[in-house]
Amino acid sequence: MTGRKGIILAGGSGTRLYPITLGLSKQLLPIHNKPMIYYPLSVLMLAGIRDIAVITTPQDQDQFRRMLGDGGQWGISLTYIVQPSPDGLAQAYLLAEDFLDGTPSAMILGDNLFFGHGLSRLLQEADEAAGGTVFGYHVADPERYGVVEFDAAGAPVRIIEKPERPPSPYAVTGLYFLDGSAPERARAVRPSARGELEITSLLESYLGDGRLDVQRMGRGYAWLDTGTHASLLDAGNFVRTLEERQGLQTGSPDEIAYLQCWIDDDDLRARAALFGKNAYGRYLLGLL
Ligand code: G1P
Repeated sequence: MTGRKGIILAGGSGTRLYPITLGLSKQLLPIHNKPMIYYPLSVLMLAGIRDIAVITTPQDQDQFRRMLGDGGQWGISLTYIVQPSPDGLAQAYLLAEDFLDGTPSAMILGDNLFFGHGLSRLLQEADEAAGGTVFGYHVADPERYGVVEFDAAGAPVRIIEKPERPPSPYAVTGLYFLDGSAPERARAVRPSARGELEITSLLESYLGDGRLDVQRMGRGYAWLDTGTHASLLDAGNFVRTLEERQGLQTGSPDEIAYLQCWIDDDDLRARAALFGKNAYGRYLLGLL
């Protein structure tokens, strides 16, 4: 326990998913049986984080509040912050500066899904580390992401946003553990050629000070993208395949809250009652 606070960045207009996202935030879309944002929220909860800010567009905030409430049902606290315009990922640290109040943070993008054996341990290690920790994941199309360049000894030397010629196949995932200096460093970031405060520029600031650890997430992990119609469906099918085969849920804040002992039997029973007789509700009852 390090007092680390969480940020879920769920802004953006989701234009690549039009027309679905014309009237609805991308992060509220279903991934099989749960809203997309349940999955990144679960990751922060697995890391032991209970004080979390949800950053949304001004017009979508009410729907997120309706979906997630104040977090009390999971024994956590949710704070809502508006991002007036989508000016880059590093902007989240400026918007959340008062909320963070000098504490270290873990920020996760509201459309990033992680799955893998040992994830909790990886998160706990990142929580306990000083400076910053990000995760490098081997992908087939690194040019779509922030990419890590490693030196001959395997140490990270540079992080480049959407490089035409990627120096490695390791993309930086949308999960950032940064120390309390992140808002101050974010203030020094200047807009990129595409007009955004790039997260990679913020990470470069840590890297330049020798304060960034890049942990590789091995092939036993799934890091899924939900940016296109096809990848959205693929993510849903992935979750469905896994859950139906195992008889276990992935990305359930209800289950994690219960296993973390943040809610008790009665709380879980009340949640399960909300879901009536569907499979998710029955699963929660089965945990009792
Ligand atoms: C953003 C970041 C990029 C990171 C990616 C992970 O890209 O800028 O560095 O690798 O998220 O999902 P965007 O989704 O804004 O294209």
